[in-house]
Amino acid sequence: ALVSLKPVLDAAVKYGYGQGAFNVNAVAQAKAVIEVHEMFRSPAILQGADLANGFMGGCTDFVNATLEDKKRGAKRIADAVKKYGENSTIPVVLHLDHGRDFDSCKAAIDGGYTSVMIDGSSLSFDENVELTREVVKYAHREGVSVEGELGVLAGVEDHVFSDNSTYTNPMKSIEFFKKTGVDALAISYGTMHGASKGKNVKLRRQIPIAIRECMNHEGIEGGLVSHGSSTVPDYIVEEINAMGGHLKNAYGISIVELKEAISCGINKINVDTDIRLAVTRNMKELFRDHEELRRSDSIGEIYHLLEANKDKFDPRVFLPPIMDTVMFGQIPDEDTAKIVSCV
Ligand code: G3H
Ligand code: 13P
Ligand code: NA
Ligand code: ZN
Repeated sequence: ALVSLKPVLDAAVKYGYGQGAFNVNAVAQAKAVIEVHEMFRSPAILQGADLANGFMGGCTDFVNATLEDKKRGAKRIADAVKKYGENSTIPVVLHLDHGRDFDSCKAAIDGGYTSVMIDGSSLSFDENVELTREVVKYAHREGVSVEGELGVLAGVEDHVFSDNSTYTNPMKSIEFFKKTGVDALAISYGTMHGASKGKNVKLRRQIPIAIRECMNHEGIEGGLVSHGSSTVPDYIVEEINAMGGHLKNAYGISIVELKEAISCGINKINVDTDIRLAVTRNMKELFRDHEELRRSDSIGEIYHLLEANKDKFDPRVFLPPIMDTVMFGQIPDEDTAKIVSCV
């Protein structure tokens, strides 16, 4: 059944475990995420980032996606998740990742998302509170949960680029929860978006510990979210580079650090980069092993895009030749089915 983030994170808080949240950029990926969680008998949190909605709305130039693109994409992915998730025996959440403004959140909610993130972390505290409150008011009326963000992560953060991260202030977090009524809060404590997180990153565990202690003390319920949590497995990076990729300085957060973070009060672990890397690896392998597919009418162009973008690992750069598959999950021929098995 489709549910909001709230019951899923409430259980994670109560029993002290962490729930993965996985980004998708195509309908087939949503189906795969649900199937894998069914195998593990776990609730599933699927995330479509703001620009992912634009892409799934048909805008191949997704960095410039319009509100109309996002509306279309949100509806398409929500329809697909309903189709695959409604009769599922596990709870399924469809969550907007890094909603950048009220309208993007509204587009997701109106399209059928069950949860949204409003990312006001680049604003001043007061502006962030104001924007987040506005989203909470609209979302909660529709039974949709809301994640906010306080503090700035280092590295490329969606539309925000910051060289220096600003860790989340525990006392400000309490004030933020109280003033906005969010169901979950994304915090900055040493993680980073993307594949270049640096070697041997140590997380600031004192930050989630302090926030959780203050929350317990004040009787505030809510989940704590760890963005930028991909592990960037060495073997995948090595395989991509062995197949002609040019990925440099690719390091992630270790599983040991993530487990530690969960024991310190983190409940939701966001993963996007690892999926992108795996898709890129799989596609490169497919074309390496099947010379005839490089000349395929339906997917041959994908091979050329991979070759022309050796330093990239965003599937949205490679998938435009099969947009009907991205948007609707349609599989028109056998070659397309082979690429779909890579995502
Ligand atoms: O946290 C950032 C996500 O990886 C979203 O990425 O804005 O490129 O879709 P995107
Ligand atoms: P990664 O870039 O580490 O996968 O983080 C994803 C994320 O935070 C999505 O919101
Ligand atoms: Na942010
Ligand atoms: Zn994020």
